[in-house]
Amino acid sequence: MSYPYQIKTLEGYKKDYETSIKNPDSFWGNIAETFTWKKKWDKVLEWNFKEPSIKWFQGGKLNITENCLDRHLEKNGNTPAIIWESNDPDEHHRVLTYKELHFKVVQFANVLKNNGVKKGDRVCVYMGMIPELAIATLACARIGAIHSVIFGGFSAQAIADRLEDAQAEFIVTCDGAYRAAKDIPLKSVIDDALVGNKTIKRVIVCTRTRTPVSMIKGRDVWWEDEIKKVETLGNPDCPAETMDAEDVLFILYTSGSTGKPKGVVHTTAGYMVWANYTFVNVFQYQQGQVHFCTADIGWITGHSYIVYGPLSAGGTTLLFEGVPTWPDAGRFWDVVDKFKVNILYTAPTAIRSLMGFGLEYLKGKDLSSLKVLGSVGEPINEEAWHWYDKNIGKGNCPIVDTWWQTETGGMMISNMANVTPSKPSFATLPLPGVEPCLVDEAGNELLGNNVSGNLCIKSPWPGIIRTTYGDHERCRQTYFSTYENKYFTGDGCLRDEDGNYRITGRVDDVLNVSGHRIGTAELENAINMHAGVIESAIVGYPHDVKGQGIYAYVIFDETHGDPNLSKQDIIQTVTRIIGAIAKPDKIQFVPGLPKTRSGKIMRRILRKIAEGDVTNLGDTSTLLDPSLVDIIKDGRI
Ligand code: PRX
Repeated sequence: MSYPYQIKTLEGYKKDYETSIKNPDSFWGNIAETFTWKKKWDKVLEWNFKEPSIKWFQGGKLNITENCLDRHLEKNGNTPAIIWESNDPDEHHRVLTYKELHFKVVQFANVLKNNGVKKGDRVCVYMGMIPELAIATLACARIGAIHSVIFGGFSAQAIADRLEDAQAEFIVTCDGAYRAAKDIPLKSVIDDALVGNKTIKRVIVCTRTRTPVSMIKGRDVWWEDEIKKVETLGNPDCPAETMDAEDVLFILYTSGSTGKPKGVVHTTAGYMVWANYTFVNVFQYQQGQVHFCTADIGWITGHSYIVYGPLSAGGTTLLFEGVPTWPDAGRFWDVVDKFKVNILYTAPTAIRSLMGFGLEYLKGKDLSSLKVLGSVGEPINEEAWHWYDKNIGKGNCPIVDTWWQTETGGMMISNMANVTPSKPSFATLPLPGVEPCLVDEAGNELLGNNVSGNLCIKSPWPGIIRTTYGDHERCRQTYFSTYENKYFTGDGCLRDEDGNYRITGRVDDVLNVSGHRIGTAELENAINMHAGVIESAIVGYPHDVKGQGIYAYVIFDETHGDPNLSKQDIIQTVTRIIGAIAKPDKIQFVPGLPKTRSGKIMRRILRKIAEGDVTNLGDTSTLLDPSLVDIIKDGRI
């Protein structure tokens, strides 16, 4: 497959960038022409950020799986689509060619249909990183069902909330998932999530770990049995459902600064074009290359750069079940060596963690196949950037630092490998179609260079969030109301003298822990559910490996029991309500929280104390009880 819209030079980038902003209709229309449509669109773009209402390729009809699978069959049917590496280095890897993947997707699409799944139904997918996870999501897309993948680390309660919000009727899961030396009982977590659930009609369970599971009559069925049923029907085909360009493709839940996680909605055509365009351009993907994105499909990075980006480009995507540090900290390098990986896309937290293990795990590993390295999810510090560059890229591989979000569908600000220059710890320049701007608190745009402010985007790109599921007003309020006529990212950012962007981190109450977004309000709610907790406040603090650690200030009812044991219980409560990813790193019991006279918690002070910066706490005169600050300072962990 060739990519006529792949930019080759800095000049080409400048030219395309300008055209994309001046004339988005013809720019994106030309790119969209290269995809497979059942019916061409009537209008490329119609939008306003007021409602918001954003429509790309209106009137167009298509199915994303025809673009990810069918269109490659004739010329590239025998090209590996998915290479799967097990958690267990001794288990044989699997390769699915485009022909095989197409067959399996179609087969499972028929399973879904046979189980009553129809266009528009919500299907929750809660699985480990096995090919069947990609197959299940693509099978949903094949028949027009809306997938909502939930990361395997979320708890039963977190799943229950998402099922309820999405009004999901179907679940695809596994008996269990392997993760390092552990076996996580996914089906059992689903069973807990389903206590009291009234919408789920069917749970399809794929075998992975053979851990014992309870199968409920009339509700639960085995993946493998259902496959046999469709085999006996003898019709291996499943025509791709005709989808409108703006039909929902998937919902993906993400944390915000208030309340429960929200269901970010992406639609079909714009998302497809954006995932593909950014994949092809940022990584400079060449047909035949092996692309290894280490994220989980449960996050947006996995959706866009394990599944939809690479497959829509006819590429070879590596799906890895394991973790970077098991059986030892050389596992990524073994995988790169074994499959001659060309593009490695990972998170700064993984790089920092592997850095800490030292260079001996790199000994004897042939990394010479690597051509491009990528970073995503959080700011990459210069030390990690240089380590990645020197020890993994051997100074020969450009590092693309890709800034984007669940809501943006794909990369937004990033250098492009060997096309635009990199600058350590800078995401650098906006991709074509992306019009960033920095604003001050009052919403004034900060013009010129050498400025910092809140990062907004001025016009829609094809992959932009369309709504938050079931609550459009929440979408408007969160992203489109802070600054008039702009999409607000929630990130702080600076623009240097050359116009390069450097993301400085969230400016709202969202933490970024190991590249995972955690809402402080959501976490406080979880902690407050513990019987002995009166009130709590969460802040982030710099953490060497995770980027940000979680610091919890908790007012604890001392009559409730041994405070040390209680800390463990609080952690357990968080694990139950959200999942292990949200566990606080530090818990400090405090007699009270510093509040203003109007009752607002002064997080600025708590943040400073957590960061260890206790000499300059700023103005504390507005506090209800200034003496609390000294007590909290003295008790700092
Ligand atoms: O704060 C930014 C940070 O991650 C947030 C988005 O998180 P999420 O929706 O979970 O998506 C992560 C994967 C795209 C952003 O608001 N972030 C993401 N990439 C970068 C980053 N911060 C700095 N540099 C990046 N390259």
